[in-house]
Amino acid sequence: MLICFTYEQNAGIAGIDGRAPMQEGRGPATPPALTDAGLRGAVVIVTGGSSGIGAAAARQLGTVGAPVVLVGRREDPLNEVAAQITAAGGEALCVPADLADPDSPHRITDACLARYGRIDGLVNNAAVVRHMPLAQWDTGCFDEHVATNIRAPFFLIQAALPALRESPVRSVVNISSSSGTLRRVGQSVYGMTKSALDYLTQTLAGELAPLGIRVNGISPGPIDTPIHATWADDLDEAYRWLSGQVPLGRIGAPEEVALWITLLLSPMASFMTGAVIPLDGGQVIDRE
Ligand SMILES: NC(=O)c1ccc[n+]([C@@H]2O[C@H](COP(=O)([O-])OP(=O)(O)OC[C@H]3O[C@@H](n4cnc5c(N)ncnc54)[C@H](OP(=O)(O)O)[C@@H]3O)[C@@H](O)[C@H]2O)c1
Repeated sequence: MLICFTYEQNAGIAGIDGRAPMQEGRGPATPPALTDAGLRGAVVIVTGGSSGIGAAAARQLGTVGAPVVLVGRREDPLNEVAAQITAAGGEALCVPADLADPDSPHRITDACLARYGRIDGLVNNAAVVRHMPLAQWDTGCFDEHVATNIRAPFFLIQAALPALRESPVRSVVNISSSSGTLRRVGQSVYGMTKSALDYLTQTLAGELAPLGIRVNGISPGPIDTPIHATWADDLDEAYRWLSGQVPLGRIGAPEEVALWITLLLSPMASFMTGAVIPLDGGQVIDRE
């Protein structure tokens, strides 16, 4: 298979050495775009495809010719991202579903198979996040985190397994978080689910390797998405606090994660499984 790996740059505003300039405290103004990843025609399910990292990944996958199945609870944002993908020449199917519902994994894979007859890749990206002290947690909120962030990825992989086995691509990417490594006070439940997701990535990578199915993860640090509005009252203050934790001195752009999701799905990572890639500007490095 010929794999062509090219970057598109906006020559008009590219920075020094042809690279996109960095915005103050944010990612590159024009992140590089992958235009061919050996995924043309590969059908990929992206949970949380209506916002942030998932939406960026879905758009990136659309650009490389992979039909994308977008999953999220709210229909309007799903339709908006699908419209962006089709306007750019890609293909998308929206499957509104609440991943906290135990029936969702099968409903999602059934909808994908009904439309495309195949599943080549799965991106377990959706998650919920609350940061609060132990005393404030109730079982409902705890269970929502476990169901959405851990149970759903596990059973989506299980539901997709028969179709993945038939695919030449056979790739799963789980999105965890630097919070799963950092053990931050107040992030006990979210961090626990992300640590567990990394565990799942590595154990299932071993279990599914004999089937040729690769399971990898990305552990992002702070990324510029709407998720921070779910826990921060003052976003500017939150972004300052987050940037201060990152040796590279800024938060990341969703497109910077989307690129690695696409790479992990693609045959460019054909010898990689069980990897959890920190994509965090160095956040998890102990600098003390
Ligand atoms: N942004 C960061 O700084 C950061 C850092 C580390 C890790 N991450 C991880 O990256 C992933 C994506 O986060 P993001 O920042 O892109 O968040 P986001 O912009 O808030 O997007 C979250 C997505 O997940 C969907 N979702 C949430 N709960 C769902 C449920 N129960 N069922 C179905 N869909 C659900 C949301 O759609 P609906 O609300 O419509 O359901 C939305 O599409 C998450 O796993 C997050 O933990 C993010």
